[in-house]
Amino acid sequence: MSDMITVTIDGIECTCEKGEYIYDVAKRNGIKIPTLCRHDAFEDHRACCRICIVEVEQRGRTKVVTSCVYPIDGECEIRTNSERIQEERAVLYALLGHRAPEAELIGKMSRRLDMSGFERLVSIDNEKCILCGLCVQACNSLGTGAISTVLRGTEKKVATPYDEPSKFCVGCLSCANVCPTGAIEYSQTDTIRTIWHRDFELLHCAECGEVMGTAESVRHAVGPDGELPTICDACRKKRLANEMMATYRYV
Ligand code: SF4
Ligand code: FES
Repeated sequence: MSDMITVTIDGIECTCEKGEYIYDVAKRNGIKIPTLCRHDAFEDHRACCRICIVEVEQRGRTKVVTSCVYPIDGECEIRTNSERIQEERAVLYALLGHRAPEAELIGKMSRRLDMSGFERLVSIDNEKCILCGLCVQACNSLGTGAISTVLRGTEKKVATPYDEPSKFCVGCLSCANVCPTGAIEYSQTDTIRTIWHRDFELLHCAECGEVMGTAESVRHAVGPDGELPTICDACRKKRLANEMMATYRYV
């Protein structure tokens, strides 16, 4: 049987199993810890933004830890928004805000903190990416692996190899959809989607006309031997329901 532990988070008693991460226990109990790199779809993607820091008091000692990767090992008191955390979080937001001055989300998330005193930090022009890695994770999880982080220091960025169109990219937009700061640009007409320097033909549902995805992403989803669908999921379900209704009428 697992060891159950009771901790307090912001004064609220929470029960958890030994080894559970603070962030997860807080979330389960409705206590919101800010994050820029956690996403429910990618359980193991953690510890990239450090915005989730919290203060832990245990056995008379207090320390600041990264809550999404800090396992609870015994009774303790956790504070997610203490003065010390607010000050340290402000530094993290300031660093991210200068790394990606065009990322409006940073300004929104830090608006209640004292953000003065960081004027000497140097900003990277026109940058929106905070290097949280979620887009790379999303792409890898599909098995496409078309993008990765490249270069170092202020030059570090997410890109396709050599910034060339990638033959592995299927134009599915998973990267752009998961990006918290809207850093991944793409454009779309009725027939073509352009992302990561490559144009993709769009497939439309033969019944309702809605975009079903790029030809490459639909092919990727059904596999090399699967039959390409001609209608979208919604129309397929509607058609199935109608067929079932018609069958029932005759029984
Ligand atoms: S492009 Fe977006 S999702 Fe990818 S690392 Fe940058 S901020 Fe994160
Ligand atoms: S949520 Fe990003 S480091 Fe914990």
